Amino acid sequence: MTATTIAVLSQKGGTGKTTTVRTLADALRRAGVRTLAIDLDPQGNLSDYFDLPPAVEPTIADVLAGRASAAEAIHEDLIPANLSLAETELMLGGKLGREMTLRRALAALPEDEYEYELVLIDCPPSLGLLTVNALVAADRALVTAEAQYFALQGVEQAMEVIELARDALNPDLRLLGVLLNLADMRTVHSREALASLRERYGEQVFDTPVRASIAYAESAERAVSILDHRPDLGADYVALAQESLARLGDGFEQARARVAELG
Ligand SMILES: Nc1ncnc2c1ncn2[C@@H]1O[C@H](COP(=O)(O)OP(=O)(O)OP(=O)(O)O)[C@@H](O)[C@H]1O
Ligand SMILES: [Mg+2]
Repeated sequence: MTATTIAVLSQKGGTGKTTTVRTLADALRRAGVRTLAIDLDPQGNLSDYFDLPPAVEPTIADVLAGRASAAEAIHEDLIPANLSLAETELMLGGKLGREMTLRRALAALPEDEYEYELVLIDCPPSLGLLTVNALVAADRALVTAEAQYFALQGVEQAMEVIELARDALNPDLRLLGVLLNLADMRTVHSREALASLRERYGEQVFDTPVRASIAYAESAERAVSILDHRPDLGADYVALAQESLARLGDGFEQARARVAELG
């Protein structure tokens, strides 16, 4: 498979990883970009967002355990996860090549049949073996940070793991960007978080912070994308999608123009 794969990660919980994967996938698909989403979190939050039967199988756990192919686990352009992934992660820990498992599984996806342009991986809130698998399978890493004190520390820890994955296993891995999420720029917290990230990571910080709003909880509860529930807020993700496609460069210009039309 030659799709560009993006791992969305953070060391901390609740930085908006799942919402980012869900909403970016949504914006990109509306712009006609063939996008596969992968839930790599035993919490299964991303899977809950998609309209699949609750006990749908096989899942990413079956793929990592070698019981199913990646192709078999794709349901409506999503590879889902559930709690069984926690057990699979433990089992995987004792195996040789444990960091390469996801990469190998995705490489085996038949190209002509799927034609995905982008793959978005939703990581769990830790920097353990599952996140390392995502980073080894990925071309790019997107780090999310909640706009609070200690945002910088969380991002630094994620960056260390990205470096480790690059040095040891995936030399082509590059950062896509750092996203300041759940931001309220009226508060000192959020402004300081953005300033410290920009000071440390400069241009690598996305121009677009995603604003905090209770509308995200409502949108999750009603299973309506923020792009439809509150297009004024969804504009943040439309802008983020454009920035992401611009950073991906060659091959994504047309998609970027189509995303711009969504905004
Ligand atoms: N921009 C936002 N403003 C306010 N709330 C948000 C925003 N984005 C997401 N949320 C809410 O914050 C919570 C955490 O978001 P989300 O699940 O996307 O984070 P996560 O990083 O994937 O969490 P975890 O680390 O547990 O996987 C959810 O209840 C979600 O609805
Ligand atoms: Mg999540």
